[in-house]
Amino acid sequence: MTNALTRRVLDLLARHAPAQRPHWESMLTHALDTEPAVFARPAFSDHYRTLAANADWFADSLVANACLEGYGAQQILLFAQRLPKPQHAQLARRHALDESRHATVFILALDLVFPGLLASQDDSVRAQVRAMQPFLRDETPFSQQPDLLTPTQAIADIIQIHITEIRALVLQDLVREAFLRHAPQAHAARLLRISDRLIADEGRHIAYCADIIEEAASSSADASGQLHEEMANHMRNFNDLTNDELERQAIEL
Ligand SMILES: [Fe+2]
Ligand SMILES: [Fe+2]
Repeated sequence: MTNALTRRVLDLLARHAPAQRPHWESMLTHALDTEPAVFARPAFSDHYRTLAANADWFADSLVANACLEGYGAQQILLFAQRLPKPQHAQLARRHALDESRHATVFILALDLVFPGLLASQDDSVRAQVRAMQPFLRDETPFSQQPDLLTPTQAIADIIQIHITEIRALVLQDLVREAFLRHAPQAHAARLLRISDRLIADEGRHIAYCADIIEEAASSSADASGQLHEEMANHMRNFNDLTNDELERQAIEL
């Protein structure tokens, strides 16, 4: 039986980035069956829904998401510059530009869900919100750095980014619900289009990592088996970190 999250990811990729990825598909299924994602547990979603029912909390979380997207964009840009294969570096650079745009889109969404809220803040708050957005552009300087990653390091980081993007997808599904809960009716259609685009982008981010993982798994008979274990190990570590985080916040799921 396929795990519900595996199914969600496979369906999304079939829609936005279809390709044959047999090794990756088997790896994802194995990783999520042996280490079901804590961030996709129904109790986790219910907890988010309870928090997001509060308008102040949700407004703050949109700003926090913008900040995380902006930070992620800069980290991925640095990572892209250290990827040994130029074609992979270009894919990761594209990803960084998307995340930079997402930072700005979350602020736009804040304004659509809570019209006038940001405008009513004082200058220093608005300056902070602006500073969270990296505004990366196609013209942003980009060059390969001398401290390139080894292929093994590169694939480990790609798997880590892959899982982070799957978590981003789960979050986007929940954010979409909360948009509709709080937004004025007149802005609902526009917010749904924004959400569609964000979800499609997350699908493409998951997909290019899947392509790189597929390529690595196809390189030798041993590679696929090793990567199966590696993906499951990354998922386990990711779950451990999520559980630590929940414990720190004294949340029981
Ligand atoms: Fe994003
Ligand atoms: Fe993403």
